[in-house]
Amino acid sequence: MQSDLQNATEVLCASTPLRPRLGIVLGSAFGQVIDEVADATEVGFAELPGCTVPGVDGHAGQFVIGCLGGADVLLQAGRLHYYEGHSMDQVTFPIRIMAEFGVGQVLLTNAAGGIAEDLAVGDFMRITDHINLMGVNPLRGEAAAGFVDMSAAYSGPLGQALAQAAADCGVALKSGVFAAVPGPSYETPAEIRALATLGADAVAMSTAPEAIVARQLGLDVAGLSCITNAAAGLAKSPITHEEVLQQAHQAGEQAARLLGHFCELA
Ligand code: HPA
Repeated sequence: MQSDLQNATEVLCASTPLRPRLGIVLGSAFGQVIDEVADATEVGFAELPGCTVPGVDGHAGQFVIGCLGGADVLLQAGRLHYYEGHSMDQVTFPIRIMAEFGVGQVLLTNAAGGIAEDLAVGDFMRITDHINLMGVNPLRGEAAAGFVDMSAAYSGPLGQALAQAAADCGVALKSGVFAAVPGPSYETPAEIRALATLGADAVAMSTAPEAIVARQLGLDVAGLSCITNAAAGLAKSPITHEEVLQQAHQAGEQAARLLGHFCELA
């Protein structure tokens, strides 16, 4: 009998003749890029056996296959978050589908709180490395298949492509270390001070699990954060999900431009 993964991949393959090499997971700030995709084919997560449908505002759940910046691309619009109560297997299943579909490179994007002094709201940060503080590893139970090396988890060449794309389209791009926390509460100021001491430059509630599974599957990984708020204790006002979504929306046009150029270069 075929597995859910094989069945889901078959549905995706049957929906389009395109076989993109590049996959992109769209975080909150990056959804507007969908409007730029030419000849788009949309496949809802509900159509994919074994794939969970996300349930948080601002996150649809679908794959979009089409042409962006002159290149074929597979976009995941809407992501599954651990804080919704999903298991790590559910959260990372779309990455497994992408790999089975034939994608060799994946760009993981997110909206994040800025910790480093040089990060302002509205900035973009290329992720150079991560600290997984989610308290779980998506590969738990799979050690028999081998221990995955994470010493160069984020690809240098893809990072260069991001830097070049940003330079080409006039978007300032910083770089730094990303910390992943489980959520769904935001952090306390003391936790943010602790994260800063650990070497984290930005923080959010996603991305690390997908990066780990992508590396297990041999994909080249790039990461990109849009800074939607100052992390807890670094600004006077409290952090709200509405503020994060509003900032994410404001950055959307620049984000779409940046991703379009990245697709040309990746
Ligand atoms: N903390 C955690 N996750 C986030 C934040 C934050 O400040 N901003 C956007 N996602």
